[in-house]
Amino acid sequence: MTIRSIVILTGAGISAESGVPTFRGPDGLWEGHRVEDVATPQAFRRDPVLVQRFYDARRAALRNVMPNAAHLALARLDAEWPGELLLVTQNVDDLHERAGSRRLLHMHGELNSALCAACGAATPWTGDLGDHPPCPRCAAPRLRPDIVWFGEMPYHMDRIGDAIAACDLFVSIGTSGAVYPAAGFVEWARDAGASTLELNLDPSAGTPMFDEARHGPATQLVPAWVEMMLRARSY
Ligand code: APR
Repeated sequence: MTIRSIVILTGAGISAESGVPTFRGPDGLWEGHRVEDVATPQAFRRDPVLVQRFYDARRAALRNVMPNAAHLALARLDAEWPGELLLVTQNVDDLHERAGSRRLLHMHGELNSALCAACGAATPWTGDLGDHPPCPRCAAPRLRPDIVWFGEMPYHMDRIGDAIAACDLFVSIGTSGAVYPAAGFVEWARDAGASTLELNLDPSAGTPMFDEARHGPATQLVPAWVEMMLRARSY
């Protein structure tokens, strides 16, 4: 089958080798924090200081990490792939854009963005939010992390749905397949008749759904897959 249109989904595993912690598993973020304490609208209402501190620390930590070979390989694919391509990331770090990816959607928000709870404006933001800075648009001191918390609607779902419906190949990289709707994308892709490929350190919850799964570190699997795609125009 000729591959023209590719949709790639990434999760925390692609940034693990850059030093950004994943969520689940031994050193995962959700081992040190309860999701319901920091990643829900209720948590933010109950203890905004704790939630802002959690995200301020993660935002500050981005300054000490760099894109790895997997991010760079996907940026190369974006630049050189002649057909349609969409990179959908669940990650809130900025490593894909720093590597050079352009056709990119952050479905779970971005650490480097602040969302005003008063006027709804999203503003690029690299500093802390815990000290109640005013919204640059409306001046209300009600900025929150521009992160899609549990119970909130992921971003860009229409564009993602359209791209998956039209893709020939769906590739999932570094995600445990534990969180919907992203965990269901492989089924949407199969329904659309696309081939499906998983690249992940370990078998994930979704592995049986994929036509093919390759297991190992993203910094090895992703550059090798990209090289193959660009050489053969096929996965
Ligand atoms: N290379 C490839 N995969 C890796 C690597 C690596 N070096 N290290 C870890 N992984 C894999 C793990 O095996 C695991 O399957 O990455 C996956 C990470 O899973 P999670 O920690 O669950 O992260 P993710 O799937 O992105 O989580 C989804 O959950 O809490 C929410 O909003 C948060 O976007 C996040 C969502």
